[in-house]
Amino acid sequence: MSDDLAVVRADFPAYRIWREQARGCARYVARSRYLRVSPHTVVTADLRELRDALEPARVAEPGPLVPGQPNIARMYNYLLGGKDHVDADRAAVDAVLEEFPEVAGVARANREFLTRAVRYLARKGVSQFLDLGSGLPASPNVHETAREVNPGARVVYVDNDPVVLAHARALLAVDRDVGVVAGDVRDPADLLAEQALTGLIDVTEPVGVLLLSVLHFLTPAQAHAVVGAFREWMAPGSYLVISAGTSTGTDPGLIRALQDACGGTAHVTGHTAAEIRAWFDGLSLARPGLVNVWAWRPDTFRQPRPPRARLLGGVARKPGARRPRWQP
Ligand SMILES: C[S@@+](CC[C@H](N)C(=O)[O-])C[C@H]1O[C@@H](n2cnc3c(N)ncnc32)[C@H](O)[C@@H]1O
Repeated sequence: MSDDLAVVRADFPAYRIWREQARGCARYVARSRYLRVSPHTVVTADLRELRDALEPARVAEPGPLVPGQPNIARMYNYLLGGKDHVDADRAAVDAVLEEFPEVAGVARANREFLTRAVRYLARKGVSQFLDLGSGLPASPNVHETAREVNPGARVVYVDNDPVVLAHARALLAVDRDVGVVAGDVRDPADLLAEQALTGLIDVTEPVGVLLLSVLHFLTPAQAHAVVGAFREWMAPGSYLVISAGTSTGTDPGLIRALQDACGGTAHVTGHTAAEIRAWFDGLSLARPGLVNVWAWRPDTFRQPRPPRARLLGGVARKPGARRPRWQP
């Protein structure tokens, strides 16, 4: 990928942009990742012309793309007690909490699981992390947790939401060892070719691949394909960390309520526990296996209320003789 193309991609995270050959000529194609962002598609042989055509869609400041429409990342931020949300997000989340107040606790438990899992990986010697569907910054962020163990840890944050990317570039990209990439997990090949990613992640070394609370926005077929691609890509000795909403043991009314809350902005899928377990095929699941996120190596034991809302989490290692270069 040329530097120029990399710069245009970084400037227009709402677009998937690629170069292709058509009838012997090179041309650039930009396609919007969202229904609400226009222009939808631009095709031109000239990169400057592409930039000019996309300029109206540039996201200069973090903020709502469409006022009045809820947004997954901001809704989650509200659930976590953050500050980056607008009325539409709060109204959508409050409607869910009215019937299922435990959802806020599940969101916090998910974030705590993320922190424990990253610490676990760092202590195992993993020094590079790929956080897919990273969400709005929420302290402690992955690089902060990993660096408590290994100050040299490298992290690449990936999301497909311009709101998230703008915040992440401002708050998370604190030095050259933290990258922020605009990408869609449904397109692993494109994502894994991004210069900001290949410049930081050494594919021959173990990596921590984090897919937390994002796969339930994909269909079962998409999630299966996405996890398979990253599992295949990661070097032996790497770890896969997943949390996902499950239909197994979850009140179906909650999945409907979450879908209603997202409106047309996202599709919510409750994956079965068997589907989630299959994402770890070929890897060895660390104890205690695939469990409710709060129950994965908790720092303090809390007896939860019988769950109507379940997020399953697991951490697994790709077999292989390779030992991490960095040792705690
Ligand atoms: C609920 S947040 C989870 C944040 C963080 N992973 C965590 O667990 O704390 C889900 C994030 O996934 C992102 N997301 C959803 N679908 C995505 C996709 N297809 N590709 C990349 N990111 C996606 C959303 O924009 C949002 O920021």
